Amino acid sequence: MFETVEPAPPDKILSLIGLFRDDPRPGKIDLGIGVYRDAQGRTPIMRAVREAERRLYDSEQTKSYLGPGGDPAYCEAVTDVVFGNASPRERICAVQTPGGAGALRILAGLIARVRPDATVWIPDVTWVNHASILADAGLASREYVYYDPVANGVRLDAMLSSLRGAAPGDVVLLHGCCHNPTGASLANADWDEVCELLLARGLVPFVDLAYQGFGDGLDEDAYAVRLFAQRLPEMLLATSNCKNFGIYRERTGCAFVMAGTGTQAANVLGHLLTCARVAYSMPPDHGASIVRIVLGDPALRADWRSELDSMRTRIAGLRVALAAALAARTGSDRYDFLVRHRGMFSLIGVTPAQAERLRGEHGVYVVSDGRINVAGLTEAQIEPFVAALTALR
Ligand code: LMR
Repeated sequence: MFETVEPAPPDKILSLIGLFRDDPRPGKIDLGIGVYRDAQGRTPIMRAVREAERRLYDSEQTKSYLGPGGDPAYCEAVTDVVFGNASPRERICAVQTPGGAGALRILAGLIARVRPDATVWIPDVTWVNHASILADAGLASREYVYYDPVANGVRLDAMLSSLRGAAPGDVVLLHGCCHNPTGASLANADWDEVCELLLARGLVPFVDLAYQGFGDGLDEDAYAVRLFAQRLPEMLLATSNCKNFGIYRERTGCAFVMAGTGTQAANVLGHLLTCARVAYSMPPDHGASIVRIVLGDPALRADWRSELDSMRTRIAGLRVALAAALAARTGSDRYDFLVRHRGMFSLIGVTPAQAERLRGEHGVYVVSDGRINVAGLTEAQIEPFVAALTALR
């Protein structure tokens, strides 16, 4: 069976985990996978999460099965965080998933069941796993224009005109906030234009909201989702709590579908449950329990929000400090885009060969497409990183 199996191509992001771990150099810098780190370089367990785990340990009575949709109370609590008051609850169904990637895969499976001929339009630069997930579900994908590598921003007009080429009923994958990997994200006025185009062309948004709370704030980062919920008949939405609760390895996410009517939503839910059942039967519970406990307790919820706000503010500060250090070193403003970008990531404009040199010569780990995880930098690492980056030129 396996005699002719060739090695699988390595994942650009995940392959860095092992390489970094095995690198003996003390000054090595990890700007690869998207995790938040504090000034000491640790990925902290948030205070509210720690307390929720304590309460869970003391109060949990059983670990019996919950079913393929996970915990409905978790889904309800997340609906509130994501949709706020904009939720047309009767038209929404949700299932808990193993992380945001699990939600994306379940929703891709749903599309394959109900609209197998749809083309899924993805940004011309996107998270490395998007195209693979869609292909794995048997879906055809095409790229729309998104990123301008010269201006380090979004090419909104070109994006809109490429989406005008989509057929009614096609699906458009959009990063709800904090674009991964570019960092170049849409402003509210841009989302308004995208929304009107989706409505006019009969296109279905498939929103990936993995970084809510890391851009401009928890509610601000939900602008697109809430707009779509009010203006559009249908939406697919994959959310993650792995990042905004710092519970990465607990794999905690949610797949939402907004359908035209409550009856349609109930029918869709059955298919989502089937997609989950055939893939992994039921999602893991620990992360969802943490989120449910935190969101259900006003004091814990407020503390979580405030800690998340301070993480976001810290990332924004790192962006300013990094841009300033690069400006001082290069004598130019060419890296000022770092301050305009939102979320954990930015494309720093290095080639795969240069990314390889950063790693080999300086112990600086960036993704081969030039993505850096700004949220992974410590203040003390800014100068060594800037020195390594500018030494490439
Ligand atoms: C990332 O983009 O670094 C994260 O979403 C982790 C992953 O699974 O790639």
